[in-house]
Amino acid sequence: MDFKNKLFSFNLEEDIARAKQLQRDEHLWQHGRGTASDGQDTNAHCQPTCHLTTAADSIVIYYSRSGSTELLAHSIASIIKGDILEIVIQNPYDTNYQKTLERANYERVNQNYPLLKMKMPNLDQYQTIYLGYPVWAMTLSHPMTAFLNTYGSKLHQKTIAPFMTQGGYGAGDSIDKIKEILYQKHSNNNFVNPLVIDGNKVNQAHNQIERWLSSIRK
Ligand SMILES: Cc1cc2nc3c(=O)[nH]c(=O)nc-3n(C[C@H](O)[C@H](O)[C@H](O)COP(=O)(O)O)c2cc1C
Repeated sequence: MDFKNKLFSFNLEEDIARAKQLQRDEHLWQHGRGTASDGQDTNAHCQPTCHLTTAADSIVIYYSRSGSTELLAHSIASIIKGDILEIVIQNPYDTNYQKTLERANYERVNQNYPLLKMKMPNLDQYQTIYLGYPVWAMTLSHPMTAFLNTYGSKLHQKTIAPFMTQGGYGAGDSIDKIKEILYQKHSNNNFVNPLVIDGNKVNQAHNQIERWLSSIRK
């Protein structure tokens, strides 16, 4: 696949419509419990997100099952006018939250993380890598773990700007986990403070996103 110069534009309204949890109040959302996906990990009606240019010095790399992190990733990429790449796995998680939870628990206990289905571009041109993921079981969600296990060494000497969506319980140990994997991959990185957003409120987080980006790009 030719990554470069692929025509691409975001439709943030479509992102919001696809992620049903964005319309839900706290009572119905229940900290993300019950949040369904389309079983294609956000991509039933569109191609996996991939927009790469020769000019950008930043790239957003993210995984999203039910669309909240995808909306956040698209918003960030729109503002910074950076490149963007979605982490895609071979066997997407189930539409059903409970089934996803069972699979994720099994994978975590057995450290059996999903196989990736994506091509990795050359990252030489980028100084900052924005890494986005949902928090699962108070830690890094498995597709991001798989991504870092596979490609972590390619992030050597980059500034890492982590962002995540979660059900209200916070970042857990996900940042330590990223640092641990990158350390194992002999990747030397500068980390900025993470952006942590409730998964049902990404569409209300514009000011918070802008402030976070300003603190990174000052
Ligand atoms: C398997 C699984 C485990 C989760 N564990 C947590 C958790 O430990 N803490 C939390 O705050 N939210 C948790 N959530 C909620 C998600 O982090 C939240 O819904 C997130 O916004 C989903 O992002 P996405 O739409 O990009 O997939 C979990 C969701 C799933 C599917």
